[in-house]
Amino acid sequence: MKNFIFENGTKVLFGAGCVREYLVCLMKEYKDTVMVAYGGGSVRKNGIYDEVMGILENAGKRVVEFSGIMANPTYEKVLEGARLAKENQVDVILAIGGGSVMDCCKAVSMAAVFKGDIWDNYWARPGVVTFKPLPLGVIVTTAGTGSECNGGAVITNEKLKIKTGRDYPQCNPRFALMDPTYTYSVPVKQMVSGGFDILSHIMETYFSGPDEDNVSDDISEALMKSVIRNLRAAVQNPEDYTARSNLMWASTMAENRLIKLGKQCDFECHQMEHQLGAYTDCNHGCGLAVLHPVYYRHIYPYGVSKFARFAKHVWNISPEGRTEEELAAAGVDALADFIREIGLPTALTELGITDRQMLKEIADTCNLSAGSYKKMTHEEIFEIFQECL
Ligand code: NZQ
Ligand code: ZN
Repeated sequence: MKNFIFENGTKVLFGAGCVREYLVCLMKEYKDTVMVAYGGGSVRKNGIYDEVMGILENAGKRVVEFSGIMANPTYEKVLEGARLAKENQVDVILAIGGGSVMDCCKAVSMAAVFKGDIWDNYWARPGVVTFKPLPLGVIVTTAGTGSECNGGAVITNEKLKIKTGRDYPQCNPRFALMDPTYTYSVPVKQMVSGGFDILSHIMETYFSGPDEDNVSDDISEALMKSVIRNLRAAVQNPEDYTARSNLMWASTMAENRLIKLGKQCDFECHQMEHQLGAYTDCNHGCGLAVLHPVYYRHIYPYGVSKFARFAKHVWNISPEGRTEEELAAAGVDALADFIREIGLPTALTELGITDRQMLKEIADTCNLSAGSYKKMTHEEIFEIFQECL
């Protein structure tokens, strides 16, 4: 196992009714001006906005609204939020939404305080945060990114065509309120996209060294099985509280740094998907679903034992009558079958991506991960993209 330091600064309050029960108490720690941030309006339709606003009003808070945060949040939107926070001398940000709203608010919490340009200093390259960002609390409305329990924020710079994530522990939300019933209204397409994002985070960690006996791989297998089982149940019945709870918590577990400890981590598929997103604004989980099986067919021969273990432990495929290589390949096939079964896209054309010349440009701008069983080249990424068409 590699050496590590573990710290996670987020307090989690989980379960049905947690917002009603705890929000007032949590907000007492902060002065009165609250910036309430949300996305394109789902929270207004499903009643979450009214519930939160009612609670804040009763608590005597002054609310500044920051709305319209788009999926794949842009740097422009971050600057808009920072301007609003500064003009109104906001004391605390309350983000209500999924990864996009949470990520945008983390970047806002830095940009509202930092004197220089946060893209140049903290997203274009990793920086050292020597100041305190505005405090941030989150109310999670869809499961997938696990952004509620880490400092990660993925931001798209539209001018530069770069979508990049950084993880600054100072951006960990102070608290995360997680009510699984808040996710009942998430459209099925987004639910399965988020579900696959969880699976991807676990696989990107699991398929990396070191592969000696380690706790992370054992937890990862349990988490993957749980995500597969509960995603199937939630597709059958979107209001299955047990399934929604398990998906919500698995999403946090995958990205709260725990399973990454001691592991090198790959995240090459994420690098590829983020650049696809920068150019095409495609949906994160859907992009990952298209890429993963094709990427894994390229790398499994370089990590055969691990892929064979994945087939056996996660998909219950019998090793009998199969070579280790055949078993490994069967695991990747099982993943591809699951993607089709739950209705995720299997080709880039389904995401409206058809332009080969653009794909070449995207491939050339992808970061190359050091954690993969096989280090990619830009040429091989272009091959993968073409096989995904
Ligand atoms: O915008 P609204 O109207 O709220 O609708 C959203 C949005 O259209 C909708 N939604 C959310 N909760 C809902 C709901 N609709 C009905 N009922 C609810 N309760 O879902 C749509 C997608 O929301 P979004 O926040 O974009 O989804 P997700 O959580 O998948 O976040 C994706 C973003 O997070 C980044 C992705 O790259 C992408 O930009 N990631 C962040 C990570 C992190 N911070 O650690 C890691 C991930 O790997 C990922 O890269
Ligand atoms: Zn992801």
